[in-house]
This record gives sequence, C-alpha cells and structure tokens, in this order.
Amino acid sequence: RPQWRGVIEEYRDRLPVTAATPVVTLREGGTPLVPAQILSERTGCDVYLKVEGANPTGSFKDRGMTMAISRAKEEGARAVICASTGNTSASAAAYAVRAGMVCAVLVPQGKIALGKMGQALVHGSRILQVDGNFDDCLTLARQLSEKYPVALVNSVNPVRIEGQKTAAFEVVDMLGDAPDIHVLPVGNAGNITAYWKGYQEYAADGVASRTPRMWGYQASGSAPIVRGEPVKDPSTIATAIRIGNPASWAFAERARDESGGRIDEVTDRQILSAYRLLAAGEGVFVEPASAASVAGLLKAAEAGEVDAGQRIVCTVTGNGLKDPDWAVSGAPRPVTVPVDADAAAARLDLA
Ligand code: F0G
Repeated sequence: RPQWRGVIEEYRDRLPVTAATPVVTLREGGTPLVPAQILSERTGCDVYLKVEGANPTGSFKDRGMTMAISRAKEEGARAVICASTGNTSASAAAYAVRAGMVCAVLVPQGKIALGKMGQALVHGSRILQVDGNFDDCLTLARQLSEKYPVALVNSVNPVRIEGQKTAAFEVVDMLGDAPDIHVLPVGNAGNITAYWKGYQEYAADGVASRTPRMWGYQASGSAPIVRGEPVKDPSTIATAIRIGNPASWAFAERARDESGGRIDEVTDRQILSAYRLLAAGEGVFVEPASAASVAGLLKAAEAGEVDAGQRIVCTVTGNGLKDPDWAVSGAPRPVTVPVDADAAAARLDLA
C-alpha cells in the first residue's frame, strides 16, 4: 500500500495548485478518526475524534502550511512570517526548512507553550517575543509583510484555509457522508471557516449528501464572538486560543449561521476536565485548547441539547506533548523504589 502523499497530492483537484507549483510537504493529513467510547456513551451518539495532533508538527496547521509555503515558493518568496500562539509558528518553521526559506515568527511574550517554542527554535526560525498579545502580533506581522519582502502565512492568507479544508474531506471520505454535527475549538476562527468550506464543497459536488451543523467553542476568557465584541485582554489556560479579535470572525459567524450551528464558550475548568477525560478515558492526549471541542460537546449534552443517535465529530487540534505542564501539574508525583521486585509489586498493589 503506497504511503499517504500529503494533502496537496491527495486532494490536488480541489486545491489552488497547478503543475508548476512546487509541492512542499511533510505528508501531512490522513489523520486518524478515532471512535470515542466514553463520549459516545455519555451523549448517546456516535462520537469520533479527528486527531490532528497526529500531523507532522503535531497540529492541524500543517494542512494549511503545506499550501501556504508551496505557493509562497512558487511566487519566489525567500522568507515567510507569521504571528502565532505557537502552533502556526511551529508548522511554518518546519515547512520553511523544507522549502529552504527563512522563517520569522512573532509570538506573545510568555504566552506560548514550551514545546511549541522548542519547535520554532530547533527548526531555526527567527523568533521575536512581542510585548503584547496574539492580536498585536498579527497586526505587526501584517505590517511587516506589507512593507518588506516577506510572505505572510497566517490564516488571513486564503490558501491556508484551502489546505485546512481537507480535514473535512477526510471526515466525509472516512465516514461515507458528513456527520450531523462537527465540533471544534475557535481561536482566530480560520479552522471553522476551513471546515465549513470543505463540507460545502463536498455537498455541492454530491460527494456528501448534506453539511453538518458547525459547533465552535471559545474559552470563556477569550470569547469575543460569543460576547459580540473584541476582548482587550484575553485570558485562558488554553494559550493556543487566547485571542481577543479573531481575523476570520465574520467567516466563523457565517459558518455558524449557514450551518444552523452555534458558537459558545467553555470555562478553563471545563476545558481541563475534558482534557483529562480524553487522556484518561479515551487514550488521546491533546493540548488544552484542543479539549475545548469536547468540553463544548459535554456542556451541550449536560444541558440536554444533544439528541441521541447522531453522528458527531470533534476535532482535537493539537498534540498533548506540546504543553505537558498541564498533564504533570495536579497529578500525583511518581514514587521512587529500589531495584527490588517485591517493593515494586507492593507499590503497584500487585501483591
Ligand atoms: N487549537 C489549537 C491547538 C490551535 O493552535 C489553534 C490556533 C486553534 C485550536 C484555533 O484555531 O485559530 O483556526 O480558530 N492556533 C493559532 C496559532 C492561532 O497561532 O497557532 P483557529
């Protein structure tokens, strides 16, 4: 069986590339759609997890980045720039290496997870920590790309959205049709925009018989779309979605309204509870922001808003290894034992 070729080759006829586009890929996409046993029990539905942490740099960003870097290379760019809460920069850094480009990243000072910082560093990108939040970083990145010869690879670049829509194609290809509901975390709102575009295209072409309702969840301290106004000082432990003024705000509202969906909020406590349930109950280790989708589904189910028997897909967007502090903190410290089987057995309650 030939290996998965990456989203551009797998979905070439549905993406804005030509024979002349140099394909820069790490074979992203083709991620697992895992049946979620406990979530299915709790909701009375068939719940699946689209495990995007299985992408090459550990998040869904790789789907968009293969497109953005390939097209930037085609256009002759030597350098790319992005603002990021950590995952976009990790992805841009890796794909820039593959393309032989320089990568500059702007991140909010002290507010990105260590694993993501490590990725940007080890791939050799130029990192600036900005004394501001993600929204400030994005403003800066836009200004720099307008004034200097550096291509912007944030999701305001429409080819990023094109690449990310392939996740919706994969869900339909694997399930045979669109689910009833698709749930995902919302930060800068590019991904909900991308999924909705993908589902609409498949439905328009008859590959799927329908589109799902799109359910997006923001963190309560960073929920501008829920509040109906930008949040000046966004806060949440889910640093990936700590965003107060999403670039794709209007597109996200469109996805919500056209699909008959919702954009709601979940508290950090609900996020962490879903994070632990995913790891300890489903065997899927995600970063906190990713758990916002599952937290949202559970919140809706507890409120009696999820009819039984539906097919539901939750995207879990990033790998838990990126931000392991939350796995360690609050967990009991492992005990130390001598090299002695009886002592080990006693500690493990085996005896
Ligand atoms: N989950 C994770 C793990 C993310 O990194 C992001 C966004 C989102 C969800 C939200 O997706 O922005 O398309 O609504 N991370 C961006 C970054 C902002 O810079 O890595 P969105």
